[in-house]
Amino acid sequence: MLFVDSTDPKEIEDIFAWGVASGVTTNPLIFARESGGADLEGRIKEVLAVSHGHVSVELVTEDETAMLEEAAGYAAWDEERICIKVPFGEVGLRVAHQLSQRGVATNVTCMMSFNQAYLAALAGATYVSIFSGRVRDTGYDVRPTIQQTREQIDREGLDSEIIIGSVRHMMDVNDSLAAGAHIVTVPPPLLRKMLHHPKTDEVIAQFAAAWKNRGA
Ligand code: E4P
Repeated sequence: MLFVDSTDPKEIEDIFAWGVASGVTTNPLIFARESGGADLEGRIKEVLAVSHGHVSVELVTEDETAMLEEAAGYAAWDEERICIKVPFGEVGLRVAHQLSQRGVATNVTCMMSFNQAYLAALAGATYVSIFSGRVRDTGYDVRPTIQQTREQIDREGLDSEIIIGSVRHMMDVNDSLAAGAHIVTVPPPLLRKMLHHPKTDEVIAQFAAAWKNRGA
């Protein structure tokens, strides 16, 4: 499955109209880049209106009580569709576990290793997010991490789904799905690149020219 990694309602609306997307992920960096000084609640509500499935919103507070309060505020925007994105760590696991016990969808994020993703899955995360590009930045192949995480989730019958984020090239999408990711979250510019192949463009142009010049 594909999610859209964006806070841009126009782009999200366009891509959902293709019928290929099942959810949206956001993070504070994407929000700062795409939405600048916009109001978070207003922007997320715009995103909710033009999409379907879970919309992940990331916690920015850092202690347990504040994170739980922040999560409750976001969840109230749409209890069915808001998914609380929780940065991985000891406090993050405690928060994700409590939210999962309250029936709130969670996306434990910023993970780079099997060990982290396994802990998040055991804690009850709805989604475990592994950051492909960030792992590759350190010189390591992310595919064994994805494969090992998927095998363990399946072996133990855990409910978590793997989201691969930090996707930078089309091959990252292919590799992630082949390695066992349930979902890849892709930025709109990369989704648009996935539309194109030079031979497709060539053959469509050839057919159009032949049709135009028929009988000439
Ligand atoms: C995933 O959920 C994240 O929003 C995102 O993909 C992070 O990617 P980055 O490495 O481009 O910041």
